Amino acid sequence: MKKIFLIGLFFIGLSCKKSINTAKQTSGSSFQLRIENKIDSLIDIMTLEEKIGQMNQYTGFWDATGPIPIKGDQSATKYKDLKKGLVGSMLNVQGAKQVRALQKIAVEETRLGIPLIFGFDVIHGYKTIGPIPLAESASWDMEVIKKAAQNAAEETAAAGINWTFAPMVDISRDPRWGRVMEGAGEDPYLGAKIGVARVEGFQGEDLASPKTIAACAKHFAGYGFAESGRDYNTVDLGTSTLYNIILPPFKAVSQAGVRTFMNAFNVLNNIPATGNTFLQREVLKKEWRFNGFVVSDWGSIAEMENHGYAQNIKHAAELAVKAGSDMDMESSAYVTELVNLVNNGTVDEKLIDDAARRILRVKFELGLFDDPYRYCNEENERNIIGKKEFYDDALDIAKKSIVLLKNENNLLPLKKENQKIAVIGALAQDKTSPLGNWRIAADNGTAISVLEGLKQYKGNTLKYAKGADVLAPDSKVAFVSELKINETDTSGFAEAIALAKTSDVVIMVLGEHGLQTGEARSRTHIDLPGVQQELLEMVYKVNKNIVLVLNNGRPLAITWASENIPAIVEAWQLGVQSGNAIAQVLYGDYNPSGKLPMTFPKSVGQIPIYYNHNSTGRPYGEGNDVVFWSHYMDESNKPLYPFGYGLSYTSFSYKNLKIKVVEGREIQVMVDVTNTGKLKGKEVAQLYIQDKYASVVRPVRELKGFKMVELEPKETKTIMFMLTEKELGFYSNTGKYIVEPGTFNVFVGGNSWASLTHAFNLK
Ligand code: NOJ
Repeated sequence: MKKIFLIGLFFIGLSCKKSINTAKQTSGSSFQLRIENKIDSLIDIMTLEEKIGQMNQYTGFWDATGPIPIKGDQSATKYKDLKKGLVGSMLNVQGAKQVRALQKIAVEETRLGIPLIFGFDVIHGYKTIGPIPLAESASWDMEVIKKAAQNAAEETAAAGINWTFAPMVDISRDPRWGRVMEGAGEDPYLGAKIGVARVEGFQGEDLASPKTIAACAKHFAGYGFAESGRDYNTVDLGTSTLYNIILPPFKAVSQAGVRTFMNAFNVLNNIPATGNTFLQREVLKKEWRFNGFVVSDWGSIAEMENHGYAQNIKHAAELAVKAGSDMDMESSAYVTELVNLVNNGTVDEKLIDDAARRILRVKFELGLFDDPYRYCNEENERNIIGKKEFYDDALDIAKKSIVLLKNENNLLPLKKENQKIAVIGALAQDKTSPLGNWRIAADNGTAISVLEGLKQYKGNTLKYAKGADVLAPDSKVAFVSELKINETDTSGFAEAIALAKTSDVVIMVLGEHGLQTGEARSRTHIDLPGVQQELLEMVYKVNKNIVLVLNNGRPLAITWASENIPAIVEAWQLGVQSGNAIAQVLYGDYNPSGKLPMTFPKSVGQIPIYYNHNSTGRPYGEGNDVVFWSHYMDESNKPLYPFGYGLSYTSFSYKNLKIKVVEGREIQVMVDVTNTGKLKGKEVAQLYIQDKYASVVRPVRELKGFKMVELEPKETKTIMFMLTEKELGFYSNTGKYIVEPGTFNVFVGGNSWASLTHAFNLK
């Protein structure tokens, strides 16, 4: 067996010194050709079973450094498959030692010694957890987002893992959907930029470097549109939304060279995404010329039976492989069914070859054939994981992710001396919840709490009262199904109220527990969970100087707070540096600059609510004396906080909007931004367009540019945006990108309600 392995190695020539970022390379490059030749040689000597084995992915099933699985249980079958070369990839295996032990079986005990690729959900850090992706997106800062992914990749690779199931580039307009915490919010333009920054961060320039890992664009496609925000629910999408909202971030990351895609649990036009030929073969592999591989979502091949699309598991395997799903995550459908399906002529072996080639290609690019253990150095693992530099960067991005929602009478920043400060709320002392969800490798209790952060400012007197727990006493944090909210226990209210009465300022840290968002965490009530709203109102009765610090993984409908509480800070779930970042913002050592990547509704009844909606035939507007227009009788059409919104401790004004047609369809937009306040600050200047008339109805506004500008008090800078055909066109209902002449309105300002406007004509 060893002999075949060695011959195999010699035969295919293991000298991939550099990775290929195929999408960025010219198709004829000799480097790429060399890899393709190696794949050809390998495919030639592989049996059908071995090729199908590459398409099979199992989750970690046993402690690979312990005794081998006992005959008869499921692990024993998986173990047998692994030794027979019937496993191409594993997920959820962590640590260099475990990875090495499993890799050793694949490399030394299988006939061809093809290394495994190890996947893991590194969503916002491996061990050094950063802000949840939605929070990070609020920074609108591509450099720090890229850096965060770079650090995560280095830590992950040090733990033996070479592939992350991120970024999630699903656009969503529904804050009830718990997975909005994993994405970049509601806008395809911002979402595409952020997706690309994350992919570049994870993959770097050289995929074979022990500091980089392969990325995965997920969930292809439409998963973020689960009906009524209920996870795994059906999806019903119009063609225009598919082409103009859902697909652009996927296309952008594909063009940026993302090496893998994950399909999705949902249907698109009543065809499950996993069995969807249009999505995977026509759009992704043909039109976008994606040559990496597509992994199914967990069990999504088998779930096609539940959808009523596949008759049985055999049929599901057939449908999935024909539709272009290359790797089967945990359905065991390919490994059990595909050999027969090929042998009886139902599935063409060419499809198997194509899928196996794609998987092998990524393995070559990762350098796994050069050195299958290159990610398995335990000393490296000890030195790299938790590096100080990662912690410093996590603080930087955490500060930049915070959004100041309200600051009446300049209650913030806090005075640094002689203040009696009350801190209230269970989340203020929580060292686990700020880690958020999707942090499988992280250790509980590793976040700096808000209380710890605030204690570092010694000039004030700081006192704490919990007020109320977010979770019920019998809730188990580790088990989602047993996550129970405290709906009744108000026994700590009296102490909190008494403390508030004698304090100058009250900091209330309220919101969602870190595990209330994420997969399968949909909510129908998106207000402050449990008794926290009641606590807030009771404290408000005795002291109005409240700074509400929100911890949450989705937009919340906090209408009462927004009407009554003078200062509100959106602090999401910020990861290990949470308390430090929040304290620095509250004390003004960092002037907040974040902007919302997702609209905050006033009430659940407004959902879906998003800024780039179409106009109706009856827009008329509030305050008009008409009845028959598109509105609610009991709620405004306006959200609580619009997309792009966020304040600073200083203020900014926008003037002198000028538009110049540089050449043909190149439009220059210039605007003066002035810091009109007293502090230095950063502003994300945003540009929106409206295509006034088109062959299909276009949104009332679309983000088409943004620029971060830093200004001293009274300073003015002129900033410039360029609009080209890339920004001015749209996809028709047949998926064709078109740019139509006509009038465009331009809006520039600090959020999606920007009022400074000008128009131009496109020829
Ligand atoms: C299911 C999730 O939908 C997907 O995003 C994740 O990557 C896989 N499970 C693997 O954990």
